Amino acid sequence: MMHTFDEQTKQYRQYIEDFLDRKCFVYPQQPQQSLFESMRYSLLAGGKRLRPIFVFDFCRMCGGDWKDAVEFAAAIEMIHTYSLIHDDLPCMDNDDYRRGRLTNHKVYGECLAVLAGDGMLTAAFNHLTQAPYSAETKINAVKVLSECSGELGMVGGQVLDTQSESRQCTKQEVIDIQSRKTGALIRAACILGVLAGNGTQQQLKAADAFASALGLAFQIRDDMLDVIGDAQQMGKATGVDATKNTFVQLYGLEECEKLVCEYTNQAISALEAFEDTEYMTELAKYLTGRTV
Ligand code: IPE
Ligand code: IPE
Ligand code: MG
Ligand code: MG
Ligand code: MG
Repeated sequence: MMHTFDEQTKQYRQYIEDFLDRKCFVYPQQPQQSLFESMRYSLLAGGKRLRPIFVFDFCRMCGGDWKDAVEFAAAIEMIHTYSLIHDDLPCMDNDDYRRGRLTNHKVYGECLAVLAGDGMLTAAFNHLTQAPYSAETKINAVKVLSECSGELGMVGGQVLDTQSESRQCTKQEVIDIQSRKTGALIRAACILGVLAGNGTQQQLKAADAFASALGLAFQIRDDMLDVIGDAQQMGKATGVDATKNTFVQLYGLEECEKLVCEYTNQAISALEAFEDTEYMTELAKYLTGRTV
């Protein structure tokens, strides 16, 4: 590895930040400036950019030039950001803070917040088409991203999440909800990275296995942080999931901590299909104890 973990993370983040800032939703001649402003408000609010990092590093682990994957990385970050704007709406989680700022609808109103999300979802697919890869690779990317984002993936998971509030779910049901609402986009990110790096079928499968396990660990940690996290540091409110079916509700914090480690180890073992896995291994381990 040519860089330390922190340096590499910084480089990946800087690259996607610059791209989003320079290339996304900047149209000086168009009249709907309030829409662009609302889109950029949430997109450039400084999330952790984990999904772009997954795209970049899976591409690199397959021997590709990770910078070429930036359109894929931007696409996934747009879909993620749109999911957060909609997740925060009064009809969903009704949250006031996100990424350290007021939520999109609190600043721009619900109408623009919904439309900013719609616009970002649509723009994401345009970005996939602009990547410097073969038509076949880009069609595969469209297929994966649409499946993971749509009614069988993230959107489906959000529906199950909101519909399950009034009753007690089983462990399997909670796993099903979480792997859709959060896991699916993490799977898309890792698989897009392998497609960008022209990886093998075996590597596609391994990325899927890694992401499925890591996605669960990630959402269990997210649910834990709702209880033990610092709202100021996280940039979003805590203590808002009390009526939800989270792993914390089902098993308590201690068991959750074990589950996060178990799923993370499962994820790491799937990395055997790749070369130079040091960075991704360290990232997965780091996420088990994340505080934001
Ligand atoms: C938050 O995702 C919502 C979940 C899917 C758990 P992140 O924790 O990745 O949010 P940002 O992108 O860093 O804001
Ligand atoms: C959000 O899960 C998942 C998606 C946006 C798809 P949460 O509702 O737990 O995310 P936070 O805690 O608001 O970030
Ligand atoms: Mg939610
Ligand atoms: Mg929420
Ligand atoms: Mg949460």
